Amino acid sequence: MRRIAILGSTGSIGQSALAVVDAHADRLAVVGLAAGENDQRLAEQIRRYCPKVVAMATGLAMDRLRPAVAGCGAEFAGVGRDGLVAVASHPDVDLVLCASSGTEALEAVLAAIEHRKTIALANKEVLVMAGGIVTEAAARHGVSILPVDSEHNAIHQCLHGRQTAELQRIILTASGGPFRGRSASQLAQVTAADALKHPTWRMGKKITIDSATLMNKGLEVIEARWLFGVRPDQIGVVVHPQSVVHSLVEFVDGSMIAQLGVTDMRLPIQYAFTYPERWRTSLPSCGRP
Ligand SMILES: NC(=O)c1ccc[n+]([C@@H]2O[C@H](COP(=O)([O-])OP(=O)(O)OC[C@H]3O[C@@H](n4cnc5c(N)ncnc54)[C@H](OP(=O)(O)O)[C@@H]3O)[C@@H](O)[C@H]2O)c1
Repeated sequence: MRRIAILGSTGSIGQSALAVVDAHADRLAVVGLAAGENDQRLAEQIRRYCPKVVAMATGLAMDRLRPAVAGCGAEFAGVGRDGLVAVASHPDVDLVLCASSGTEALEAVLAAIEHRKTIALANKEVLVMAGGIVTEAAARHGVSILPVDSEHNAIHQCLHGRQTAELQRIILTASGGPFRGRSASQLAQVTAADALKHPTWRMGKKITIDSATLMNKGLEVIEARWLFGVRPDQIGVVVHPQSVVHSLVEFVDGSMIAQLGVTDMRLPIQYAFTYPERWRTSLPSCGRP
């Protein structure tokens, strides 16, 4: 059994992660759940997965949650950053999936590293804000940070078994978002609702808006710099509207290796949960009609 804590369990990544648990209920166990304000969804998850420890962003949210899960046996770890830290460092947790949005989980990620938990990192804000601190702590404690962001997960798969010295450059793919090819005058007319219609991925609102402006790709370049220890000039970006190739690596001999897959975050989440093994999924193959 791999025992998992999910920070941000009520969000897009968090719900996909629980779908991965559902698909492998005999090998994955949910030990901790943390959410922001959505007490109703968290209550459903607590009733279904019976975690040992839970947390929410605020005392008000926690007060709404308590009566809905009375008798479930979950320990209320606290609120805000303290709650996230307690869930992430619970002694029964083997792997922490950081899938909360924003920067609140930085201390929790550092606490999990200190407690030698494997980190599955979907949240990019933590690395953009404190990549040097996080990667240095992980190296010091011998902890793996497994990327869940699809592009970085692809790079991790491409690099499997290779030395950093063999790496020439990393090429992140970008779909181009909903506004690819639009003129400046057309862009002046777009609305937030238009920006939320991503052509290939279904994600939370912030990352979807950031994808429409391409700001997300800038954040991903910073994320890649820290995850893979490369210089910024070794990271390229190519627009690939089909989103079939999730990213590529070029080695010093000129060979390039790419990772392909369906646009479903359950794939990189499962890879992080099962690494270094690969388990079966019921997801379709992108190579089959
Ligand atoms: N979605 C994707 O496909 C995708 C792909 C790659 C990377 N990422 C990254 O993964 C992270 C999550 O993205 P998402 O799309 O899943 O976002 P989302 O759907 O907006 O979900 C965010 C989650 O974080 C929780 N949260 C927010 N503030 C919190 C706090 N202070 N304390 C505890 N929990 C808090 C939310 O709880 P409530 O809803 O209960 O308030 C929710 O569970 C982001 O960093 C994003 O860049 C996402």
